[in-house]
Amino acid sequence: MTFEELIEAKRDGNEHTAEQIDRIVLGYAEGEMPDYQMAAWLMAAYLNGLSGEETVCLTDAMVRSGRVVDLSSIPGIKVDKHSTGGVADTTTLVLAPLVAACGVPIAKMSGRGLGHTGGTLDKLESIPGMRVELSPDEFLEQVARVGVAVIAQSPDIDPADKMMYALRDVTATVPSIPLIVGSIISKKVAGGADAILLDVKVGSGAFMKTEDEARHLAGELTRVGARLGKDVHCVMSDMNQPLGMAVGNALEVVEAVETLRCEGPVELTELCLDLAAKMLTLGGVAPNEGEGRWQAEQALSSGAAIRVFKRWIEAQGGDPAVASDTSLLPLASRSREVTVSGERGFVVGTDAEEIGRAAMLLGAGRATKDDLIDPGAGLVLDVRIGHEVTPGDRIATLYAATEQQLDLGEERLRASIAIASERVDPPSLFHEV
Ligand code: URA
Ligand code: CA
Repeated sequence: MTFEELIEAKRDGNEHTAEQIDRIVLGYAEGEMPDYQMAAWLMAAYLNGLSGEETVCLTDAMVRSGRVVDLSSIPGIKVDKHSTGGVADTTTLVLAPLVAACGVPIAKMSGRGLGHTGGTLDKLESIPGMRVELSPDEFLEQVARVGVAVIAQSPDIDPADKMMYALRDVTATVPSIPLIVGSIISKKVAGGADAILLDVKVGSGAFMKTEDEARHLAGELTRVGARLGKDVHCVMSDMNQPLGMAVGNALEVVEAVETLRCEGPVELTELCLDLAAKMLTLGGVAPNEGEGRWQAEQALSSGAAIRVFKRWIEAQGGDPAVASDTSLLPLASRSREVTVSGERGFVVGTDAEEIGRAAMLLGAGRATKDDLIDPGAGLVLDVRIGHEVTPGDRIATLYAATEQQLDLGEERLRASIAIASERVDPPSLFHEV
């Protein structure tokens, strides 16, 4: 079959064979299938879905597009973690050095910004000098020496995801369960970790808006992981409002550093400690989550976690001084404070996806594949659901390169925060384990 016939088959709702999926994924990764045909196939798959078996074949073909890293020479149970995507979800920047400081090696492959969500790689690259494309050998060497490495998909490791991810980001084909499963599980299998913890986000800022959808995604991630020989554990956590207060790449690095110094937002800190407790249990260094939680709290308060953060950044070429002086990070040249204009009231809801889109309009995301992001752009919120506000109170500070971007960002942000007279309770951080 030609690529055009394969697209036609999916457009008409037919099921592909394993050989056909190999042809699409490997043909694309090898440069035989051009972007425009993959974009059309992705939209057909988005609209018509993939069967359970097609999803397994997709994931397996993506893994085989590159090498599988062999971490067996590193002692201990290697644990990986991945979020299904959120807004102000800066967890990895805190959690990776935190868990490594407690003795569990972290070998992780992350992603860039996707749709309205931020990506760990873009955040890391806002640190001057930081490199995220390491060869498999460099990756292995760094995990062995420093205890933590976070890398990008590359021509060697999961190139199919590197390419498909960048296309999905700008073709409105992100929130598809089979495509998300293929993307996440292929990275986790190729990265070589022994145990995998997935943070499945649910709510207005997640790709899965309802608990039912998020539960379905968690079930598929676990099922496909098992078919590819991986033990996958999932938690479901809230994304009805941004997790932290900062949205934007360098701004989120600042928030991660503050969190590592025990001065970060409560929800981000709490999620990191909870996930750390689970990872330390999976990694066999804590007998139970209670003990794991205690170890993680000690690593934060003693400064051990931020010391590992510095060694990690330095190992990947970044300037470790950002951990003591965040003014070394880029910041957009213009800023604007957004204040409450209406009546006194309470923040009763946020559309976290729209807050993510506001940050993109300020320059923190990509509109086309070749766009450069502005590492210093984004916004810092002052309010969360349940807060009381009076006219004149600041709800956020926006950062961008131009006044026009500030105008666009302000309009989006204002529309995404609902203020009313009746107080509501904030959403709880965890939905289900
Ligand atoms: N994270 C990923 O790595 N891929 C997706 O498709 C969604 C979230
Ligand atoms: Ca929407």
